[in-house]
Amino acid sequence: MHFLLETLWVLARSLFYCLESLVRFIIPVRRKSVSGELVLLTGAGSGIGRLMALEFSRLGARLVLWDINEEGNNETARMVRDMHGARAYAYTCDCSDREEVYRVASQVKREVGDVTILVNNAGIVTGKKFMDSPDALIEKTLEVNSLAHFWMYKAFLPAMIAANHGHLVSIASSAGLIGVNGLADYCASKFAAIGFAESMALELLASGCDGVKTTIVCPFFINTGMFEGANTKWPRLMPILDPEYACRKIVDAVQKEQVYLYMPRSIYIAIAMKNFLPTKMGVLLGEYLGAFNFMAKFKGNGKKSD
Ligand SMILES: NC(=O)c1ccc[n+]([C@@H]2O[C@H](COP(=O)([O-])OP(=O)(O)OC[C@H]3O[C@@H](n4cnc5c(N)ncnc54)[C@H](O)[C@@H]3O)[C@@H](O)[C@H]2O)c1
Ligand SMILES: *[C@@H]1O[C@H](CO)[C@@H](O)[C@H](O)[C@H]1NC(C)=O
Repeated sequence: MHFLLETLWVLARSLFYCLESLVRFIIPVRRKSVSGELVLLTGAGSGIGRLMALEFSRLGARLVLWDINEEGNNETARMVRDMHGARAYAYTCDCSDREEVYRVASQVKREVGDVTILVNNAGIVTGKKFMDSPDALIEKTLEVNSLAHFWMYKAFLPAMIAANHGHLVSIASSAGLIGVNGLADYCASKFAAIGFAESMALELLASGCDGVKTTIVCPFFINTGMFEGANTKWPRLMPILDPEYACRKIVDAVQKEQVYLYMPRSIYIAIAMKNFLPTKMGVLLGEYLGAFNFMAKFKGNGKKSD
């Protein structure tokens, strides 16, 4: 196309998208129904995985629950059935093990059907200074928090593409947007998860597969026990999130087909500032917000994936 014409066309569309997002900011977006969808959650045996299972089933979805912790996973399935009378199928799977992912995935396809909403939620944290972190735990963190997402997409995305229908949800972290003292391996794994989900969303769009949506979730600390002992300096500015609240926001973002969800809202400001302020000022603000001591009293939940 002619340079001038194409530039004008892009400007006009840009203006339209700005207006559209302004309107959507004022008038709430219509939520899509998840009733009848088949939702697979990894890490469904506790924390926000369990809460998302309850929320999705309340909204009429069928559930496939994966966790390495069979007991917790069974308990989630029981809660889903008891509270909402919904169908829930629990599978024990270590999603850091590629062969196991492929094996359990084909079992799910055979026994339940094609997954239409995939939530990569399972995650672990070492919580030590990098030099004190055992190599095996560093590797495991990358395997669970990022590599597992590759194998889950390989297993479940083809059916979504074929139907041009589905939703990929990545439970990453604000630690995947900004480095944190004391969380080097975890941050690396979450940066990877975000880079992967974002790239795949573009790959889908470029191939014309516009029916498969992506939502990338970046929360600050959530009070689930995973980050027990981690602390925030100014809870009003950077509150530790309530698990029920976080879970409601995530499911809501899926229903609104929102691509990025950062929680709390101050994370949007922190990220914008990181990208345009002088570096020293960024560090100063980080100190002011207590970022250097987030992990000082970390205890964790004692659960380690093995
Ligand atoms: N809690 C927070 O402060 C926080 C903040 C930001 C992001 N997140 C992310 O949210 C997600 C859920 O965390 P949570 O707070 O509910 O923690 P959680 O520890 O309660 O839940 C994690 C679940 O993943 C399961 N799991 C661990 N390794 C696994 C493996 N190899 N295969 C299958 N399942 C495995 C665990 O058994 C557990 O049930 C994680 O990805 C975490 O990184 C948590
Ligand atoms: C979980 O549930 C399955 C199927 O009902 C059962 O076979 C298994 O023994 C249960 N495991 C635990 C640890 O409760």
